[in-house]
Amino acid sequence: MSQMAGKTCIVTGASSGIGTATALGLAERGADLAIVGRDAARLDVAAERCRNAGAPSVRTYRTDFSVLDEVRALADELLTDLPRIDVLINNAALVLQHRQETPHGYEKDIAVNHLAPYLLNLLLLDRLVASAPARVVNVASDAHTFGPMEPDDYMSTRGYKPMKVYGRSKLANILFTVELARRLEGTGVTANCLHPGLVSTGLGRDNKLGVLFLKLARPFIKSPTDGAETTLLLAGDPVTVSGEYFADGKVHRTKDYAKDPLMAVRLWDDSAQLVGLD
Ligand SMILES: NC(=O)c1ccc[n+]([C@@H]2O[C@H](COP(=O)([O-])OP(=O)(O)OC[C@H]3O[C@@H](n4cnc5c(N)ncnc54)[C@H](OP(=O)(O)O)[C@@H]3O)[C@@H](O)[C@H]2O)c1
Repeated sequence: MSQMAGKTCIVTGASSGIGTATALGLAERGADLAIVGRDAARLDVAAERCRNAGAPSVRTYRTDFSVLDEVRALADELLTDLPRIDVLINNAALVLQHRQETPHGYEKDIAVNHLAPYLLNLLLLDRLVASAPARVVNVASDAHTFGPMEPDDYMSTRGYKPMKVYGRSKLANILFTVELARRLEGTGVTANCLHPGLVSTGLGRDNKLGVLFLKLARPFIKSPTDGAETTLLLAGDPVTVSGEYFADGKVHRTKDYAKDPLMAVRLWDDSAQLVGLD
């Protein structure tokens, strides 16, 4: 029997890049899939590929993560449709070239890359715990090493350096993982995060320098399939650790500020306020 048969897995950002490769890897292992993306047509193409790759069932959910009400509606739909959630893979993200705001007036990198998955996780948490042993896998990035969190300026109003702002949103993914793992201790649900490596995808398509860099680097960097390997390992293999940062299939050392438990709690509380949760 396939390794993931009978498991229900949610993959966000499954309409392209590493997310599609992750969904395909899970499909090949026999998982039931719920895939999330912001574009219905791209999502349908990914779903068809997953069915052809062997997924017994594939549901699609079109959601724009820059709109928190859409994230709440997504959580409602998932809770209605999925009696259990064995794996939640938070993979969707973007990199911008210029500062943009969401309808709530939040800076878009932090909103899409951190606040949306934070809200989605919290709304799905009881179902994950009820499905234990379950896993949360957060796709972060080594870009978090570009600098520490600036809790007085989550919305980057004091100047916008694209990679620094993206890096802080990925740092938020790691700090969120640290605090989530702490809160989930003893529940049978693990939460880990990872750097997928430098991967040839459309990430940064809105950033001219990013596009140029990826074009030049393409022959030397990972394919999306290779970039999905650590995510698939954390989703499927018997990983018992929790709250860790992985790269190349192993726990990876990171900056002290990415593991700071006080900052992790502060970000958790501030995020709850920003998304309107108690
Ligand atoms: N590529 C790398 O070298 C690299 C390195 C380190 C970390 N990562 C991380 O890997 C993950 C996957 O990125 P990728 O490289 O595969 O990039 P990608 O090909 O651009 O995929 C990103 C996914 O997120 C979705 N997305 C973007 N904005 C969204 C929004 N507002 N609402 C809902 N979904 C949205 C995209 O949807 P569309 O299909 O509609 O665009 C796409 O499915 C990200 O978390 C990224 O930070 C990537």
